Order: sequence, then structure tokens, then C-alpha cells
Amino acid sequence: MVYQIYPRSWADGNGDGIGDLPGITARLPYLRDLGVDALWLSPFYVSPQADAGYDVADYRDIDPIFGTLADADSLVSAAHGLGLKIIVDLVPNHSSDEHPWFQAALAAGPGSPERERYVFRDGRGPNGDLPPNNWLCVFGGASWTRVKAADGTDGQWYLHLFAAKQPDFNWENPQVRAEFEDVLRFWLDRGVDGFRVDVANALIKAAGLPDWEEPLHLLGDADGVPHDHHGKRPPMWDQDGVHEIYRVWRQILNSYNPIDAAGYSGEGDRILCAEAWVDSPESLARYVRDDEMHQAFNFEFLQTQWRAGDLREAVTKSLTAADSVGAPTTWVLSNHDVVRHASRLGLPVGTRRPNGIGVGDPQPDAALGLRRARAATALMLALPGSSYIYQGEELGLPDSTDMPDDVRQDPTWPRSGHTERGRDGCRVPMPWEGDRPSYGFGPSGRTWLPQPASYAALAVDRQAGAPGTTLELYRALLAARREHGLGAGSLSWLGDYPEEVVAFVNEPAAGERVLVITNLGAEPVAAPAGAQILVSSGPLTPQGLVPTDTTVWLSA
Ligand code: NOJ
Repeated sequence: MVYQIYPRSWADGNGDGIGDLPGITARLPYLRDLGVDALWLSPFYVSPQADAGYDVADYRDIDPIFGTLADADSLVSAAHGLGLKIIVDLVPNHSSDEHPWFQAALAAGPGSPERERYVFRDGRGPNGDLPPNNWLCVFGGASWTRVKAADGTDGQWYLHLFAAKQPDFNWENPQVRAEFEDVLRFWLDRGVDGFRVDVANALIKAAGLPDWEEPLHLLGDADGVPHDHHGKRPPMWDQDGVHEIYRVWRQILNSYNPIDAAGYSGEGDRILCAEAWVDSPESLARYVRDDEMHQAFNFEFLQTQWRAGDLREAVTKSLTAADSVGAPTTWVLSNHDVVRHASRLGLPVGTRRPNGIGVGDPQPDAALGLRRARAATALMLALPGSSYIYQGEELGLPDSTDMPDDVRQDPTWPRSGHTERGRDGCRVPMPWEGDRPSYGFGPSGRTWLPQPASYAALAVDRQAGAPGTTLELYRALLAARREHGLGAGSLSWLGDYPEEVVAFVNEPAAGERVLVITNLGAEPVAAPAGAQILVSSGPLTPQGLVPTDTTVWLSA
């Protein structure tokens, strides 16, 4: 069980309105009590924050808004003291344009070794006025920006698959490879337990950087349909060469892992987890072959519509693909890049997955969304494999869907020409205490994004200990999952239920088997006679039946 902390928005220790590492350290006992095994922190490195820290200017230091290296060390040791592991975010595809290497590349000019560490090209057309190819940036617009030559005239272009302030590294360059191998060691030596690898599918580009006529989808297809490129692989995504990089990294991690020690329990292992938005579970499985990464985010499940058949198919495909390489699969429903599932699932079934929701957009049905989100989470947490949860989903937080557009900070909004609202709605600071300014996010009452009024009633202190709240549901699910060993179990579908019911048994190697029923149909369904309810995502009917949009766990 991994809990994702978005450091800007979890807990503000110094009152500047932005979350920080001391704030996180102070609140770690909350995560121990929630019952997770590890936390993953989105980037905290020195950064101009052009993409909320996914634009790194120094991979070996902490941005002052988040604290210091000493604060990071304290966080790691406090987490370890509570039995929590720490996974940090590694951003190897691109740096900030304020990284010293990029600044050196600008100063050194065309043909220099400094420029070779990034992807600089001459433009097309008589004066080089056109970008070197037609690739589009994930956030909108062209993925090339032109720089000035030393004499002030227009010069070469550089590639950025993301914002212009995020130039892509040239991973064919040995210095880039050596640098990141060293960065891995730097953080491993500080005691971190692993890395979440940002856009792991992007590092290598097809030779010659050929034109590509289709848009770039970072976050899969908005409508949840696996991306079909008519049999062609986009030249910027999922090139075979990326795997060689991860084989080298795995060797580095292995050198820190006591895999050969006598009596070794697996406890000391450091891991790599790929963020790779690829076309299929089969492509994803290639990232977790036994000499590559340990885990990869499975976005298939996140993108699945709230239909029983679709969910069964996504689970089966994911398990089959992971099994084919002997890796555990993973599950995730929310993160800092997508509309929170409590809001997503409140849109009509079949709706294209929006990239942000704002004023004037169709608004989700909050009650329906929360009910389905609780059922979806209870389904997910019963599945074998690793689950990743995103801060605040344990409170049932909705996205902020009526945020004024002029406070938005995601570069997606301006770069898309104000057509895609982007990801600010899921990044709003956490509510801890319903009666305090900023709902207890920090001591000053400031927040870098406004919190919706609905967050007061959802604050941690309002939910903790109160029966039936989403926080208590997560605590109960995580405790039962741990007690029964469900993460390491195996799944068998149960066929004798209506089509609109997802029903399976999770049989753990050691613990007791658990029967899981999620009812997506209009009619309530009966659980097997004599089975004991362990946890339920919502109340049963007065007759003891499982109602619509409800998941129950039963001892089988
Ligand atoms: C994926 C990250 O999750 C996202 O937030 C970021 O904008 C891109 N990678 C670029 O680093």
C-alpha cells in the first residue's frame, strides 16, 4: 500500500501557503494509523515550479519552499521509525531550463558538447523558421522552442515534450546516463526505499525524430479507450531503447538490496516504479521484466468506465500481463494528474475522462461520485497486487470543480489555449481541521490554491473516529487487507451472479480467503447465506442485501 503525497498540498509547516517537508514529518503518524506501508512523494527538488516541481534544476537538493536536505533526512528517518518506507520521484526525461546544464548548452552554442546533452536541432525552412518536426507538446502547442544565437539572431530549436521550461535530455548521451546513475546513488545513500520514475516511456526517441501526425497523449485517451495508433508506435513514446536504461538502474538497486543475505525477508529492498502511459498491459509488462523495474502504474484500471464487464476485463488483462513476467500488478484510481475518482465517477457513465473540470463545465453528481468512489476503492483494495492511493482520497475529497480560472497554475490551461483546464482541481491543499483557517493546512491560513467550502465537512478531524465516514472506511479496508494478506493473494471470478455484479474470491497464500461483491446493477443482490461481512463501502438494505454501487468484503 503506497500513499502518494503531493508535497505542495499535504501539510504546510511554515505558513507560506505551500506544503513542505517539516509539515509532512509532523503528520506522519496519520499515515501509520491509516495503515499504509510506504509513501511516495512527488518532486521536492530545487525547481522554478513551472510544472509544480516536475521541472528540476538540481536533482541533489531540496527546493527552499519545501525545506532543506536536513529536512529530507529527518523525514526519511522519522518515516522509517514509524515503519513507513519512502519512495521519491525521479524526473529523468527532462530538466528545468534553469538547470546548469541547460544554461551551459544555451551559452555554448550549436555543435557543442553542452548542447549534446539536450535535443537541439536546426529549424526547417529557408531560415530555419519552422520547428524541426511536427511533434506537439503534451500540454498543448509545439514541442519545440527556438533559442537566440549569441549575436541575438534566431538560433536552434530544442525539444520539450512538456512545457517549454522542461527541455528533454538526450538519453543517447553517456553523460546523461552517468548523471542519473549518480543521482540514484545519491538518494539511495540517503536511505530512500525507491523511486517513482516520471514518464519512464519517453526517454528514448525514434532515430531521426520522424514526424507524427497524431496528438501526444500523456494520460491515455480521455475517453478511456486504449490508444490505438493504427499499429504504429509514436516516435516519442515507448521505444525499445528505454529498457536498456532500466536494466542498468536495476543493477544499481540490486547492489543496495540484500537479496543474497541469509534469512533475508525482503524488507530491505529498494524499488523502481514506472510511470508509463503505454498502449496496453502487455507493453506495460515489459517495464517490469525481472531485470527491469519492480512495479509500474497500471492506468488501465483508472481509465475503466463504471461498468461491471469493463472492470472485470481490465482486472483480468492487468493480472494476465503482469503474470506473464512474474511481476505484481498495481492498481490506482487517483493521482495528481487526473480528476479525483470521487468526481470522475460522478459524471455519467461513458463520459470522456476530462482533463480538469471548471466553471461552466458539466458538474459531477457529488453524492453519486462519492458512493461509487467508495465502492471502487473497496474493489481495488481487495485485488491482489500493490495499490497506490492519492492524498485526500481517503477523505472522499472531490476535485475542486468550480475554481476560478485565474488562480489556475497548471501550464496545461494556457498552453492549450484555455481549452483544457488541467490538473489544479486535484491538487488543492488537504483539509485537516474543519474549523480552522485553511482547514488546518498550515499555521497562517494561506493556501496556494483555494479550497472548496465542501472540504470543511470532509476534514480529517471531522471524519476520524466517526462511523461510516470515508476515512474510517479506508482504515477498515486497509486493516482487513493487511490482516488477510490480500495484496499477495490470487483472484478467482465467481460466475453465479448477475452480469452487472463484479464478484470474486481473493485467496491469499497465508491468510483467510475473502469474497468480494461489487454491485453495479440497479437491483440489490444477496450475499451468500452465512457469510460474515468484514467491511462494506456503504450501508446494506434493510433486508441485508448489497445495494447499487456498493462493495462488500465477506469472509468466505
Ligand atoms: C508526469 C507527472 O505525473 C506530471 O505531473 C508531469 O507534468 C509530467 N510527468 C511531466 O514531468
